[in-house]
Amino acid sequence: MISESTLKEGLNSILNVTQLSGLGERYQGKVRDCYMKGDERILVTSDRLSCFDKNVTTIPFKGQVLNGITAKWFSMTRDIIENAVIDLPDPNVMVARNCDLVPFEMIVRGYIAGSAWRSYAKGEMTSGVAFPEGLKEFQKLPAPVITPSTKATDGGHDLSVSEEYILSSGKVEKVIWEQMKEAALALFERGSKFAEERGLILVDTKYEFGLFKGKLMVIDEIHTLDCSRYWIQSSYSERIGRGEAPEMLDKEPVRRWLISQGYMGEGPVPHFTDEYRLEISQHYIRSYELLLGESFNAVLGDPYSRIEMNLQKYMR
Ligand SMILES: Nc1ncnc2c1ncn2[C@@H]1O[C@H](COP(=O)(O)OP(=O)(O)OP(=O)(O)O)[C@@H](O)[C@H]1O
Ligand SMILES: [Mg+2]
Repeated sequence: MISESTLKEGLNSILNVTQLSGLGERYQGKVRDCYMKGDERILVTSDRLSCFDKNVTTIPFKGQVLNGITAKWFSMTRDIIENAVIDLPDPNVMVARNCDLVPFEMIVRGYIAGSAWRSYAKGEMTSGVAFPEGLKEFQKLPAPVITPSTKATDGGHDLSVSEEYILSSGKVEKVIWEQMKEAALALFERGSKFAEERGLILVDTKYEFGLFKGKLMVIDEIHTLDCSRYWIQSSYSERIGRGEAPEMLDKEPVRRWLISQGYMGEGPVPHFTDEYRLEISQHYIRSYELLLGESFNAVLGDPYSRIEMNLQKYMR
């Protein structure tokens, strides 16, 4: 639990865009600022909140929450597959091996929801996968399914693609693809089991992979609230039975709020009041604690100077 005053103070500790020098080539993702030099990629996870592929606001402590979840999950899954992380010098920063990105995202689904549901309801397949007939929205699938998509560069939208398309694209070798599938399913199984022990459902999630000197590794982030859907187990059956949506731990409620304000990625972004930003922050922190079973240690103060100090040794 975070105290009211610490939470409020978070509004004065926001990490938005960084412009660090001496760390190599800079690339700004939607949420992470990357600095690349030689074999290393420094990933600064900001507090930016992205919805519909657009940055809509900043949320106090969000970067620390995501970086913390990913760090913990990477350390818990090294026996399944190697990951890119080599150092955690700051609550918002990860130093990773700079991999050659496999330009496809592995989306694993244990339940039918979101875009897969919308396609299914229209009688369309997702990524060439035909789901069983007669599914209801939010229903559990007989077994987890991979629905890959392209990894869009330059802020474009990701597109669902079939395995056939991926293999014929020549962008990933068959042996690597097989390793990716196996790893994605094993990671998902572990993520689901861990969530289940905490009364949560890992609904679906996205993994990114890269090659470092020819070796496959999982990169970016895993099992966070930005790349996964989580629902509350205890109310799931009852709510589904009543024809309601499950209780959601991920950022779906924010997405829904934006839609209710008439925003779906185009035009002016609706105003997020500080009160709402703090509510979302509290939600991220609660979710962190629920997901990891640990209390969250919010680090306050100017994050820019702190990060610069903690990255001194990389500024050669
Ligand atoms: N270890 C790694 N090696 C190479 N690339 C990585 C590694 N870890 C993360 N990346 C890439 O760094 C970027 C991280 O930024 P971020 O997560 O904000 O981007 P994104 O919003 O997911 O995607 P985009 O790059 O399209 O904005 C992503 O492009 C991701 O693919
Ligand atoms: Mg990302």
